[in-house]
Amino acid sequence: DTPGLIDSFGRVATDLRVSLTDRCNLRCTYCMPAEGLDWMPGEQVLTDDELLRLLRIAVERLGVTDIRLTGGEPLLRPGLERLVGEIAALAPRPRLSMTTNGIGLAKRARALAAAGLDRINVSLDTVDEETFRNLTRRDRLSHVLDGLAAASEAGLAPVKVNAVLLRGTNEHEAADLLRFCLEHGYHLRFIEQMPLDAQHGWNRAGMVTAEEILDALRAEFTLTPSPSARGGAPAERWLVDGGPGDVGVIASVTRPFCSACERTRLTADGAVRSCLFSNAETDLRALVRAGAREEEIANAWRQTMWAKLAGHEINEAGFAQPIRPMSAIGG
Ligand code: GTP
Ligand code: 5AD
Ligand code: SF4
Repeated sequence: DTPGLIDSFGRVATDLRVSLTDRCNLRCTYCMPAEGLDWMPGEQVLTDDELLRLLRIAVERLGVTDIRLTGGEPLLRPGLERLVGEIAALAPRPRLSMTTNGIGLAKRARALAAAGLDRINVSLDTVDEETFRNLTRRDRLSHVLDGLAAASEAGLAPVKVNAVLLRGTNEHEAADLLRFCLEHGYHLRFIEQMPLDAQHGWNRAGMVTAEEILDALRAEFTLTPSPSARGGAPAERWLVDGGPGDVGVIASVTRPFCSACERTRLTADGAVRSCLFSNAETDLRALVRAGAREEEIANAWRQTMWAKLAGHEINEAGFAQPIRPMSAIGG
């Protein structure tokens, strides 16, 4: 047995989040400006072969058991179905999931499931067409809803929905979103907005807190703490009206869960990050392209994770946002 990804606080990272591209086909106001961002040049993005080499090292040598594909928007990655098949063929086989905005998923859910994708989380902040247009700057609500339905039919279960509430935009839609998800059997989680937007426009007063969201839901539903184990998962969960439906809250800012963090991250251009909020990155692409040996790459990854901080410092004076925005790290 070779040592896995342990940090100096004793946490072990077994959950790898891989950003497949920094591009997106929506323009959510809390994420990026209307004109988009300066996307990574193609030659900087890991090729499938380079990425698979790193994932093989993660699975075979570093104890990674769970791989989540993210973006930007992972469905925009050319050849995604084939890549999923190749990741699912790694040994020991990792559990494989994806976080997507759902656009284009309607046509692809079945093929992704067949290729080996186990489950899927879809971002959906509103079920109102006009709010969707204002928030994402695109008129695509029906595409996302069709994508969700297709994911469910394809057996990518449990289908989870991620929602961020924004003051003045969709903050009053918590109960509507929950009703929609309960009706369709999706597991809804509300996420507190974090300071990771490309525009650096986040401020504490603008963030709708977990407590506010729970208060709004309690006006219409009875919530009881879910008996299922949380483990290192970001979401705290409640049964709704006695179950089986449930709802979760990812209170990254007001109730940080860093002490149980099991995550390591790889960006589309091959940088390893120990935390969403760390600026310390290690460029594994350079090692791969220089023909480094597997154990050398594994050691660079271990060292990055060993240096992981105790947690994010959003709530401390002098906090500064990381250089990369959320869309280039992979939520
Ligand atoms: P599962 O519970 O395994 O389905 O996945 P997940 O909730 O970790 O994955 P998902 O990509 O759906 O994450 C939802 C949101 O949780 C992300 O967009 C982030 O906002 C937040 N999140 C995920 N991981 C972290 C983390 O390590 N730190 C913080 N602060 N937030 C995270
Ligand atoms: N804070 C919290 N969640 C965010 N997401 C994107 N930007 C932020 C942010 N600043 C969410 C998206 C999606 C997931 C990948 O991350 O809504 O559900
Ligand atoms: Fe882990 Fe960093 Fe997220 Fe905290 S903020 S849970 S340490 S990735």
